[in-house]
Amino acid sequence: MLFNNPFAEISVLVPPQLMQVFVIFMILMVILGTLLDVINKKNVKYFFKNAKKAKQNAERELSGSEKASVIFKTISSDILTTSELGAGKRRMAHLLGMYGTILFWISSVVMIFCYSSISLDTPIVWPILWHIGACMTCIGGFWFWLFLRVDVYAEAYPWYRIIQADLFILSLLASALLGIIWSFFQSIAIYGLDNLFFILFALSNIVLFGGVYWSKFAHMFYKPGAAMQKNLAEADGSMDNLPPPADAPEQFGLGIKREAPKHY
Ligand code: HEM
Repeated sequence: MLFNNPFAEISVLVPPQLMQVFVIFMILMVILGTLLDVINKKNVKYFFKNAKKAKQNAERELSGSEKASVIFKTISSDILTTSELGAGKRRMAHLLGMYGTILFWISSVVMIFCYSSISLDTPIVWPILWHIGACMTCIGGFWFWLFLRVDVYAEAYPWYRIIQADLFILSLLASALLGIIWSFFQSIAIYGLDNLFFILFALSNIVLFGGVYWSKFAHMFYKPGAAMQKNLAEADGSMDNLPPPADAPEQFGLGIKREAPKHY
């Protein structure tokens, strides 16, 4: 199963060109969903207005090398290692899910566009990356979904309580899990069931990529922009229009350090 390119075998039933058009359609849906989000919710307009206001409060102009160093730190720490999530389980789960998804998507695109035919030999690395990516997405995603979500972890809601905000994580998990099950049934040659799971896999992708406007999908574009702005504002002293940190010793007793923070 691990070495099997599932898109090659299904190409007997579904023409490779159709799969390729499907991928292009999914990408267009992500662009459209994000644009609609930007236009209707006006979040990006607010973001730039705030950034402009903050710039007026800048205490100094950053040099080219300072800007480059802030950009490097933002990419290497805030984006590539999602440092915003601290050092614990939350970050671990997110990294598993994020890199798993990236592997899953990249290997899907390569296999669909370059090797979706039984007459072509798929280099073994791509199916392996596809399966590992799907498994990492499931481990990180289910860990987050079952144990780490704020309303489950801190507010004691049951894990099966579903709200609109869960659309992204649930459709992402559905797509990775259904992909693995489809590949499994294909590898043990249970015909019928493999095709059923292929259809479910395709449907879960339509929900994932078609639901961008209603889901948290676009955070993967917004979060890097917000991290960049925050770090630049800290470096030029504008502090995102916030007051400067107090220059006084902490005198709060144990305060918030009395117990692990989980009552947000
Ligand atoms: C392929 C890229 C990514 C994927 C698949 C992904 C996946 C996810 C998922 C499934 C969640 C949970 C959503 C929920 O609350 O239901 C999440 C939350 C989050 N993501 Fe991402 N993400 C990606 C990129 C990023 C990037 C680039 C950043 C930061 C620069 C980021 C920062 C966050 C933060 C701060 C949260 C909130 C976590 C929490 O509530 O504990 N993500 N992401």
